[in-house]
Amino acid sequence: MRTTLRLILALLLVVGAWVVGHDVSILDAPWTSGWPHPIAGVVLQAVSMVLAGFLIIRWGFVRPMARTVQWMRRIRMGEPPDHGRLPKGGWRPLTRELIQLARSLTSARASAEEEARLRLAGQARWTAERLKEHVRSLLGGRPFVVVANREPYLHVRQGREIRCLVPASGLVTAVEPILRACGGIWVAHGSGEADRDTADHAGRLRVPPEAPAYTLKRVWLDKREEEGYYYGFSNEGLWPLCHIAHTRPVFRAEDWAHYQRVNTKFMEATLEELEGSDNPCLLIQDYHFALLPRLIKARRPDAKIALFWHIPWPNPEAFDICPWARELLHGMLGADLLGFHIQFHCNNFLDTVDRTLESRIDWEQFAVNRADHTTRVRPFPISIAFQEGPATSPSAVPTSAIKEQLRTRLGLRGEWVGVGVDRIDYTKGIMERLRAVERLLDKHPSLRERFTFLQIGAPSRTLIQRYHDLGLELDKETERINQRFQTRAWRPIVLLKKQHSHEEIMPFYQGADVCLVTSLHDGMNLVAKEFVAARTDQRGALILSRFTGASRELRDALLVNPYDIDQVADAIYYGLTMDPEEQQARMSRMRETLQEHNVYRWAAHLVTELATIRPLPPPPQASPSQDVVDSPPAALPASASVRP
Ligand code: F6P
Repeated sequence: MRTTLRLILALLLVVGAWVVGHDVSILDAPWTSGWPHPIAGVVLQAVSMVLAGFLIIRWGFVRPMARTVQWMRRIRMGEPPDHGRLPKGGWRPLTRELIQLARSLTSARASAEEEARLRLAGQARWTAERLKEHVRSLLGGRPFVVVANREPYLHVRQGREIRCLVPASGLVTAVEPILRACGGIWVAHGSGEADRDTADHAGRLRVPPEAPAYTLKRVWLDKREEEGYYYGFSNEGLWPLCHIAHTRPVFRAEDWAHYQRVNTKFMEATLEELEGSDNPCLLIQDYHFALLPRLIKARRPDAKIALFWHIPWPNPEAFDICPWARELLHGMLGADLLGFHIQFHCNNFLDTVDRTLESRIDWEQFAVNRADHTTRVRPFPISIAFQEGPATSPSAVPTSAIKEQLRTRLGLRGEWVGVGVDRIDYTKGIMERLRAVERLLDKHPSLRERFTFLQIGAPSRTLIQRYHDLGLELDKETERINQRFQTRAWRPIVLLKKQHSHEEIMPFYQGADVCLVTSLHDGMNLVAKEFVAARTDQRGALILSRFTGASRELRDALLVNPYDIDQVADAIYYGLTMDPEEQQARMSRMRETLQEHNVYRWAAHLVTELATIRPLPPPPQASPSQDVVDSPPAALPASASVRP
């Protein structure tokens, strides 16, 4: 009995619990029976308990405490804090918190250093900190709300676990750093299968999960709404309509009905978040919400509303084929400010309005006046959160080592690597790119077994037949080209069809000799900018379609027409064999551009323009009081336009 008790005691000590039990039967036993004497037994137990207690305190408390203190001291002194790893032997919940604290400290220190550096250099670059202060003083406590279909974090089930994922989306890459910096609310479709389990009854949760900075408000859509509004009208109708990439748009009346219904649903969800506050500032994102500006404005005239259109705007003839062109424009013109990536899309938009609706276009101010409401139209080229600092200082691991790791991991052969990173979408020109690689190997047989092209393709919108088919077509084309050239140890093309996280993509960008961004048409394309940002070594060549918004800024890329297969093949060859000095000069100029034109600047310009909107001077002639969409002839007599 006594032995059993001791064993239990020892076991409890090992698992960290402390229980004192005593077998009182010894009190009835004669003093002389058995050895050791019961008193000696009690003393022995007491001594062993004290000893165990001492060891537990030393190993379980003093040592981890000393390690944690040492680790914190390193952070305070600005030494590399080894963020990713917990100090060994520490207490997990506490050290996890400390890691967050360390991250915030390091990034605050980096921002402060960067601010100081820029102040000294007399420059005024936009940083997260500067944007935060700017937005705070501009809005003075008014709510800041972003509405976008795609949510920045979605939750999915993996076995019994729930995992949090960041979707493959340029919009998320660009807009998330702004919310992180400024706080506010992001209203989005809750599309993850475990999204409801991770939000409260109103669909709200604080994100990012590791360091909450703003609120994500999820809007729930049923299957039919998602099919009609997202897959149908938005992505089978408006997406091909605006991209003009030779995929015919499909317009179905039932999709349109869902699109209207879902826009109304988002209006209700947004209004719910605005209750009790005055003069809110709203940034609505993209083609999923053309109707939302007017819907909100009608209910909250005090709201300042911007709609940013992330995809191209086509010419008026192309847009006119949409059966609901007038309704879409009417909805958009409920905004105070409309943003596109480039001036060309602003011009197309104004031309489209001019031809479609009764309105007065002010070509001097770049504004539309309609029924006593003015909408400004401006270009705001979007970007990424690029900031020089520890995160962008030359990587500790040399490029050659990164490339070598990539080669080993993927079993590659040959010294040269090309990379492409896209959602699998027909607008991205992936098929044309594969054919350019084939052409390259035909033209330059010396590159066989020496060059491999890695294409990362994140599956996207696969419920749409065209996207589903494209995935299969890419497999086939890769196989065909590989069969033409492959040897026992080498294939020219490796197609990785899976979503990769930002961290997983990094070594591809950093280890590549050339990066191919050959969209057939693209509002901006942030992959091009991410590649440039990743090249802290100032090496690598960017081959960029001239039909992307990014080609307007990254003039040192090798600009190509993606339909011209020979030209793209030649550009790859030129990029691979480019003189290192030229490569460095081009890359460093592009990095300069990106530093200046980062996403903080984009947000600052957009929010400033929106928050400081004042009424324009009265129009030189009365504007038509047209405020309904089902009016007769779309075309307006030339006299109603003040185009110079
Ligand atoms: O280009 C428009 C856009 O919304 C991007 O901002 C984004 O990268 C992409 O489409 C993502 O599409 P989805 O949200 O449909 O996956």
